[in-house]
Amino acid sequence: MEPAVGKPSFFRNIMVRVLLFGVFIIVVRFAYIVTITGESCNRGDFCFFSLPENLNFVIAGAGPGASAIVGSDSVSRSNPRRDLYTSKDWIKAVNFFSSVFQDLMSEGYLLPNSKSLCVETPGGQEVFALKEIGVGDSIGIFKKASKPLVISGEGHRIPFRNNTFDFIFSGGARFDKSVRSSAFASEITRTLKPEGFLVFHVKAKDTYSFNSFLGLFDSCELEKMRHIDGFDSSLPYIREIIMKKKSEILGHGDKISGGDSGNECSIQEHKRDLIRNAEPLITDEPLKPWITLKRNIQNIKYLPSMVDISFRGRYVYVDVGARSYGSSIGSWFRKKYPKQNRTFDVYAIEADRTFNEEYRLKKKVTLLPYAAWIRNETLSFEVNHDPNHPGLEDVKDKGRGMGRIQPKKSSGNVVDGEVDEIQGFDFAEWLKKTVTEKDFVVMKMDVEGTEFDLIPRLFETGAICLIDEIFLECHYNRWQRCCPGQRSTKYEKTYGQCLDLFTSLRESGVLVHQWW
Ligand SMILES: *[C@@H]1O[C@H](CO)[C@@H](O)[C@H](O)[C@H]1NC(C)=O
Ligand SMILES: *[C@@H]1O[C@H](CO)[C@@H](O)[C@H](O)[C@H]1NC(C)=O
Ligand SMILES: *[C@@H]1O[C@H](CO)[C@@H](O)[C@H](O)[C@H]1NC(C)=O
Repeated sequence: MEPAVGKPSFFRNIMVRVLLFGVFIIVVRFAYIVTITGESCNRGDFCFFSLPENLNFVIAGAGPGASAIVGSDSVSRSNPRRDLYTSKDWIKAVNFFSSVFQDLMSEGYLLPNSKSLCVETPGGQEVFALKEIGVGDSIGIFKKASKPLVISGEGHRIPFRNNTFDFIFSGGARFDKSVRSSAFASEITRTLKPEGFLVFHVKAKDTYSFNSFLGLFDSCELEKMRHIDGFDSSLPYIREIIMKKKSEILGHGDKISGGDSGNECSIQEHKRDLIRNAEPLITDEPLKPWITLKRNIQNIKYLPSMVDISFRGRYVYVDVGARSYGSSIGSWFRKKYPKQNRTFDVYAIEADRTFNEEYRLKKKVTLLPYAAWIRNETLSFEVNHDPNHPGLEDVKDKGRGMGRIQPKKSSGNVVDGEVDEIQGFDFAEWLKKTVTEKDFVVMKMDVEGTEFDLIPRLFETGAICLIDEIFLECHYNRWQRCCPGQRSTKYEKTYGQCLDLFTSLRESGVLVHQWW
């Protein structure tokens, strides 16, 4: 405006005051609406403008003054969510996301007309940043709505139809035990359009967790991954993962390598690294296996103590040859195995009826009262008469020492001891039906020599690729505790054959530990 030459200066002063008063009234109204009624700007009669534009004005004036605009301290304390939009942290976050989205835009992952969704955004900073850089058609979801930027919805239950969005961002998704990662991943891919882009900010520190993360999104492919600096000290370091949803035609029947189809798992370099970092195998046959192998348990490097296991579907523990509940599930797995706060589904496989009853009372344990075998068939099951395990009573007491199993012969050519009939099932097939590659699967196997049948079968069927970590007790003609200089006659295999089994597992990328 031209300065009003010749007019009295006090008139100009009055004009300025009137204008300032007008601005003041507007600000007070806005503060009232946002802080007291909390209705943001849905109620037409109170609103002069829609919330996002209004916030632009607040942020343009940023800094400490900005928070003074909205309410006094007492108001914000009694109503903490209301001053969210103007807090320093909120503005800092908006600035951070604006620069992130601008980069994505310059690379073509995001366009001004991209229909966009931000998942798990409590404060809507991401949505605000999107609108600020010109992506108008964007919305956020969070458990608790914070309109107009954020509506009610959760990552594993997104309130939109299939193929709705061109762009989905998730910066704050927590993969803690309350969220099933695979449900989250499938909801996001469901609502993303084919060829749309997904961008995640995650704390996947190691290669293992990064690969698990990608594994959750099997209908997407990785476009780019980079490290960026976070905006607050609690998240100093972030992986930005950009993925693209495959087009429908491509995505259909396009199986991931390994697993059901192939018999070979793809061994990624990070698996080799894990195995290199694991405790070494004991190469020389121990003279006192009951001491050496038992002590070795202290040296075991558990997988969850080396990597982050967050980004998996289910968490599953399979105890093959579980014996009594207390013998390993209760005493070891429940107490000692590092679970990173995850809840595991436990399967106990135990054919010996002696132990079956107590499992009925155990919650969260599924008992399969059969013998793990290489096909479905009836087996004969030898009740032990080993010098170390003289009778059935003894077997019950120790919770160990079950006999070998063998296919049932038509002419009952029993060597010694009693023989029971049990039902065997195809363990490898069962595993393939029960878990997927997305799941985190830990297995303990103590099957009295049957490991020499079961492990090759796991390889043959590709089921081995489904297992993340194995605790294997290998049975061989070991030196006896009772009788120095004598080997057990119970098993034919030698220590060398056991070592070969462990070595071949590790060479195939399976993290196996020597168990006792
Ligand atoms: C939406 O997608 C899911 C899986 O991606 C599918 O099971 C469902 O049938 C689809 N719904 C519609 C209405 O197409
Ligand atoms: C498990 O939960 C406890 C308490 O909630 C927490 O202190 C701990 O850091 C969590 N551990 C992991 C590995 O997430
Ligand atoms: C074995 O038995 C299970 C359960 O009864 C069945 O689902 C599976 O198809 C059988 N497998 C074979 C190879 O017959």
